[in-house]
Amino acid sequence: MRFQLVLLLVLGVALAGGFGALQMSRIGVHQGYSPDQPIAFPHKVHAGDNKIPCLYCHYAARTSRHAGIPPASVCMNCHTLLEKQTVEIEKLKEAVQQERPIQWVKIHNLPDFVYFNHSQHVQSGVACQRCHGEVEKMTKVEQFAPLTMGWCLQCHREHAEIPTGEFQRAAMSLKQKQKAVAGTDCASCHY
Ligand code: HEC
Ligand code: HEC
Ligand code: HEC
Ligand code: HEC
Ligand code: HEC
Repeated sequence: MRFQLVLLLVLGVALAGGFGALQMSRIGVHQGYSPDQPIAFPHKVHAGDNKIPCLYCHYAARTSRHAGIPPASVCMNCHTLLEKQTVEIEKLKEAVQQERPIQWVKIHNLPDFVYFNHSQHVQSGVACQRCHGEVEKMTKVEQFAPLTMGWCLQCHREHAEIPTGEFQRAAMSLKQKQKAVAGTDCASCHY
């Protein structure tokens, strides 16, 4: 009895804390968010005009939870060789000379109580653009998707109807098999 009471109390505090965090985290969850960056880095010039693959810079997306922003050393792979100078490229070189990390402003922010992992999506063939829009056409990145629970679930439902039985799987086309199964139970994303 005593134990149950304590458990209830702990749960209550955890929930209250959760809702507090929820209200604060809401601030970062909105479509169209497009803050100014310390260097006006144009995706259009890099991923669009020059066709640099997303994973060249966001290489972590293949293997880890976060896609990550490349360190300035990756930028310098090209910019030590390229002759073009602009005010924005100067800012990059200045930061490198001073060994000062560039303070990029994070655009996408999921609340802490949600588990999201890039590698699970990237490795099953979900294109970056389905969640981030046509970044290769953006001069300035903006949040494309609402990042709400409904948005996650809508796509997971489309990917949830794969039969798991041996015979059923055998009868599926390759295309169907490649359509990976995504969970819709709460514990997939909250734990
Ligand atoms: C040459 C390196 C480079 C390439 C190539 C590149 N990015 Fe980026 N990306 C960056 C940098 C630097 C930032 C941080 C500055 C900014 O937000 O513009 C960034 C930011 C982002 C963000 C916003 C992250 C946040 O703060 O929430 C997304 C989404 C993104 N990139 C997706 C892509 C996609 C999709 C592609 C391919 C179509 C791509 N990037 C190609 C360097 C790159
Ligand atoms: C299934 C949807 C989905 C796909 C596919 C996806 N992303 Fe993301 N991306 C997100 C979400 C959601 C966030 C916010 C994550 C957070 O706040 O923890 C995010 C955040 C980012 C960020 C910000 C920094 C970070 O590591 O969280 C970058 C950069 C990024 N994505 C790039 C990419 C690139 C490049 C690809 C393709 C290789 C890609 N994303 C594929 C949904 C996706
Ligand atoms: C794979 C090569 C490559 C990498 C890596 C790369 N760039 Fe570039 N960048 C280019 C090319 C090509 C141009 C076009 C200008 C030119 O032809 O010299 C350019 C242009 C730019 C410009 C000027 C855009 C304009 O409006 O003219 C900025 C700013 C810039 N890059 C910043 C960065 C930053 C910051 C990084 C690292 C996050 C980075 N670049 C990584 C190849 C690269
Ligand atoms: C555009 C489609 C799409 C969107 C949007 C999407 N997902 Fe997924 N997700 C998938 C697919 C497909 C898989 C299955 C990957 C596999 O099993 O190979 C998956 C798998 C996962 C998994 C692995 C566990 C499981 O369910 O099998 C988690 C966790 C997850 N997604 C969380 C999220 C969250 C959180 C969001 C929203 C912020 C989200 N996803 C948005 C397509 C999507
Ligand atoms: C595919 C991923 C995913 C699954 C599955 C999922 N959620 Fe969520 N959930 C999210 C994301 C992302 C958010 C934060 C964005 C938002 O609030 O819409 C969230 C927010 C919430 C919130 C905060 C309140 C709110 O609506 O904003 C609650 C409570 C919640 N989820 C409960 C659940 C329950 C219960 C289930 C199972 C029936 C579930 N979730 C399944 C991704 C998921």
